[in-house]
Amino acid sequence: MKRNAYYITTPIYYPSAKLHIGHAYCTTIADAMARYKRLAGYDVFFLTGADEHGQKIQQKAEEAGVTPQEYVDKIVAGFQDLWHKLDISHDDFLRTTQARHHQVVQEVFRRIYEKGDIYKGAYKGLYCTPCESFWLERQLVDGKCPDCGREVKEVSEEAYFFKMSKYADRLLQYIEDNPEFIQPVSRRNEMINFIKQGLEDLCISRTSFDWGIPVPIDDKHVIYVWFDALSNYLTPIGFLDDAEKFKKFWPADLHLVGKEIVRFHAIIWPIILMALDLPLPKMVYGHGWLIVDGDKMSKSKGNVIDPLGLIEEFGSDAIRYFLLREINLGQDGNFSRDALIQRINSDLANDLGNLLQRTLTMIKKYNQGLILSPGEVTAVDEDLQKMAASTLQKYQQEMEKLQLSDAIKTVWNFISRTNKYIDETEPWVLGKDVSQKERLNRVLFDLAEALRIVSILIIPFMPKTALKIQQQLNIARDFANLHLQNAEWSDGLMVNVKVNKPEQLFPRIEVEASAEAPKKVAVPQKTPKADNVVDIIGIEDFSKVELRVVEVLAAEKVKKADKLLELKVSLGNEVRTVVSGIAQFYQPEELIGKHLVLVANLKPAKLRGIVSQGMILAASNEGMLKVVEVDMPAGSKVK
Ligand code: MSP
Repeated sequence: MKRNAYYITTPIYYPSAKLHIGHAYCTTIADAMARYKRLAGYDVFFLTGADEHGQKIQQKAEEAGVTPQEYVDKIVAGFQDLWHKLDISHDDFLRTTQARHHQVVQEVFRRIYEKGDIYKGAYKGLYCTPCESFWLERQLVDGKCPDCGREVKEVSEEAYFFKMSKYADRLLQYIEDNPEFIQPVSRRNEMINFIKQGLEDLCISRTSFDWGIPVPIDDKHVIYVWFDALSNYLTPIGFLDDAEKFKKFWPADLHLVGKEIVRFHAIIWPIILMALDLPLPKMVYGHGWLIVDGDKMSKSKGNVIDPLGLIEEFGSDAIRYFLLREINLGQDGNFSRDALIQRINSDLANDLGNLLQRTLTMIKKYNQGLILSPGEVTAVDEDLQKMAASTLQKYQQEMEKLQLSDAIKTVWNFISRTNKYIDETEPWVLGKDVSQKERLNRVLFDLAEALRIVSILIIPFMPKTALKIQQQLNIARDFANLHLQNAEWSDGLMVNVKVNKPEQLFPRIEVEASAEAPKKVAVPQKTPKADNVVDIIGIEDFSKVELRVVEVLAAEKVKKADKLLELKVSLGNEVRTVVSGIAQFYQPEELIGKHLVLVANLKPAKLRGIVSQGMILAASNEGMLKVVEVDMPAGSKVK
């Protein structure tokens, strides 16, 4: 089978400091797209890297008392460690200090120079000698250097210029003919306006520092960092050394960049390519910025978020999920710890985690872990299967349009639908009736099949979780052998699979009281008058209370009451219905099989129309709640 090629890039990051969560955001999006395209059958080349030259890096190294190379080596090792921990699946990591890249940049310069589009001229500017920096008139503060406040002087320095102006009309025409080239539309319009104001020739060499790639025909000069950096996109795909590979991957399908550097990618870069007679990239997408609690991240504000700390605390998949789910690609998005915890608890622990836990627990309980041949399809099953098909279709459309957040929502709608399917089909009721065995097998099969599909669709977003689900379902195989078509509903694939023991995917994060508005814990028990003041009672009073161990046979949410669960519990020789205010702390399926303590002689009370025959004991403290569990047979007395 001939596979289509897909070439996707991130910007190459400056190793002037460690990367923060904003950089992780961009790379995670690119990774999700790369993983999606691999799943869709493409031969993907995913490139990221480090942009290591320039005066700023040279200065930082001097301040640190090391060579520029030593300086960047250390920081770039940190980049690679971060990408490893975030499961970034890049095919190459380009460093602009590598020899392979020097050769490419010098060749690009040489070809354009020979064509006559690079010429030597003079760079005029206002220069601050102590700072070794050029400034524009409007950047000065009271006519002085904006950095150190000292005098600047007008200097004229020999430099090489690139004839950008010559290509302005051609570029404008190209942008107009190719509406997809610059995305989103707001950035496209910005670029059109910018070019219409006229393009000046670009100064592409410097003599004021030497940490850069020498101009091949004049080694007093080093090549301007952006000319050097942009050429990185040609280096690893064989521009100089592998014509076949180059033909396969160039032009790039997507340069994903932050909004403030769209200008370099949508104006300078295409003109370099035009001068080289190479086709232009198919798309430059300018994504929005990640801001923190409503503020731009900056060292001075002290709000720079280190992704490594978050990964350690919450795991890489939770961070990836949050970044991809919470932010619409073209817009700025907010990062907040509270919002992250909220997503982990509701989407990951609750919706996805519990679906897996409930499904596997029931397959274990009713069929000793074996998925059996499913019985006939009824209307409710058909509804679920139809939704699986429409989910796959919608997901593909959204991913192709880079609407990653929408694609995640689409998958989560399906997860919610599957959770609802459990409530509708009531497998715990079917499990008690042997004549319903066929029906039960269909329900359990459908649940496992739905989870199998989900585990494929989430590979681009949460590769570790996708694998964990597949391992628990006992169907894990290398992602390279999976294809989107495998996410189509199949009535055969899961038959006779013996599932593994359920393991929690995402533990719920307990929110500290200060981080969340204190919530009243709804438990039917009467709370004492004040925390530590309780009336003293005699043993004869206590002995009036009959406490018994019960086993939970079934549990479900009480409709329109988000705090209540209806439980069916066994006292050994009798089954009772008990309504308990623990729904915010337990998913129904988690309770099945647990041995709890029941106040068995409490006067029955009607809650939401259901008669509750007793009360389950639970311990509560500062918003936390846990049922009291006892490892004793149902019916045992508690004294
Ligand atoms: N070295 C250049 C890129 C050269 S590409 C040929 C550069 N490096 S950078 O390290 O400053 O920034 C790299 C990318 O990180 C940019 O796309 C930028 O938009 C992105 N981000 C930096 N801060 C960000 C956020 N707070 N949020 C999202 N992206 C952010 O520019």
